Amino acid sequence: MCASCHGSQGEGNVATNSPALAGQEIWYLEAQINNFRKGRRGKHGDDIYGRQMQPMAMTLANDAAVKAVATYIASFSKPPASTTIKGDAAAGKARYMLCASCHGPDGKGIKARHGPGLLVQQDWYLVRQLQNFKKGIRGSDSKDIYGQQMRPMAMTLPDEKAVADVVAYISSLAR
Ligand code: HEC
Ligand code: HEC
Repeated sequence: MCASCHGSQGEGNVATNSPALAGQEIWYLEAQINNFRKGRRGKHGDDIYGRQMQPMAMTLANDAAVKAVATYIASFSKPPASTTIKGDAAAGKARYMLCASCHGPDGKGIKARHGPGLLVQQDWYLVRQLQNFKKGIRGSDSKDIYGQQMRPMAMTLPDEKAVADVVAYISSLAR
């Protein structure tokens, strides 16, 4: 069912606005599916894409079903890199210094800080999520503890150029 939007290998599909799931760790997949299931994500009136995903998460009846699908997705190989965003990776590198403390200097994520891997993700999706955090479309629900930690970090990116630069840098990291 998920494959119709996210691709048969979880590679993501810009045409359905659906991010890559392959290459992501089980703990983060479970956390986000549960955020959608519990209405901590995908309920904001302006969250066009999150609202498409939210009812899909509701089809997973319980924690065991969530774990099973996350474990299956984690068996896929890493998706190919996407480079749809043009930005100044050198300028983005300076901005990424802050991000590294939770997402890792290599962009592979730090579970202990609840920071997901960013490396495997489609670049257009990273841009959208950073904008969503900035606008409070994601990370403003009172029960979204980790999204609330990420929101002020996105606020350190003052404009579209800063967002594009940091995403260009993340995309340039070795996979
Ligand atoms: C109708 C299309 C559609 C289907 C079917 C669908 N999704 Fe999604 N999914 C989306 C969209 C669109 C987003 C992006 C939401 C956003 O922009 O915040 C998303 C986001 C996600 C995310 C968050 C990823 C991240 O890094 O933030 C996860 C995890 C996810 N989907 C898992 C699933 C699973 C598991 C299934 C099957 C049970 C599924 N999706 C079915 C459209 C879909
Ligand atoms: C204090 C720790 C921390 C710092 C610093 C931080 N983040 Fe995050 N970030 C998080 C956490 C935690 C999440 C997961 C939020 C959730 O569970 O919804 C996250 C999520 C994200 C996501 C969403 C990924 C996805 O697949 O859904 C992006 C994109 C992101 N961060 C980019 C950045 C960038 C770029 C920076 C630097 C400007 C940064 N982060 C700095 C903790 C941090």
